[in-house]
Amino acid sequence: MRVIAKGAEALLYLEDWLGLTVLVKERTPKGYRDPVFDKMIRVRRTINEARLMMDAADLGVKTPVIYDVDVVRTRIRMQYLNSPTLNHVIKNNGYSKLVKELMNRMGALVGMLHNGGILHGDPTPANVIVNNGDEYLIDFGLGEKLKPTWDSKYLRKAALDLNVLLRSLESNYGEYSEQLFNDFINGYSSVVGDGKAASVGRWIKRIRSLARYYTGRLL
Ligand SMILES: Nc1ncnc2c1ncn2[C@@H]1O[C@H](COP(=O)(O)OP(=O)(O)OP(=O)(O)O)[C@@H](O)[C@H]1O
Ligand SMILES: [Mg+2]
Repeated sequence: MRVIAKGAEALLYLEDWLGLTVLVKERTPKGYRDPVFDKMIRVRRTINEARLMMDAADLGVKTPVIYDVDVVRTRIRMQYLNSPTLNHVIKNNGYSKLVKELMNRMGALVGMLHNGGILHGDPTPANVIVNNGDEYLIDFGLGEKLKPTWDSKYLRKAALDLNVLLRSLESNYGEYSEQLFNDFINGYSSVVGDGKAASVGRWIKRIRSLARYYTGRLL
């Protein structure tokens, strides 16, 4: 078994499948969870991930092609993209014109998802694969699909999605996290429109000040 990554919840390995090298994402049991509950969560996330990957592709957002979903063994066989993640590109290049462009386009892709009602759940540079200049989104297991009403409930959810990105940029790229996030927002606004992007931005501020308030009270 050629393991390529061991994520927080899944084992990712390559397999020869009908003569094709494919990537298998297998959600493995978590010993600390009750076994019945654990299986339920893994089944649900596997189905959710496969469904959202296909829905995203319908919206014009590139995702690895799904070959097979095995609900019993909680694994997905998908196209293997032998390319670095955006996280690797940023780490190797630092803040460059290329990185600026890739963050901008990542923002446009997440904007397309939000326009189509898909909230990714973990839209970070580690979940973007840069393949021949194209960006592919992966890791949809925690995502959800709603009606894209852009009412306050939806705006809040969109803001929570982008706040996951902002927090990951801050913890990984402290010095230039703000520039990276700005580039992302420029791409995002160009797709969802400036008005909606500004409303999401206000919700991000609100979520963050609430988070500070509660952390402050705990200390
Ligand atoms: N289709 C693919 N082709 C190539 N590499 C992939 C593919 N899917 C995932 N990977 C690699 O495996 C890593 C983990 O995949 P993924 O994010 O889907 O799993 P995860 O268990 O949710 O991991 P994490 O906890 O790290 O987010 C990715 O960051 C990427 O490097
Ligand atoms: Mg991931």
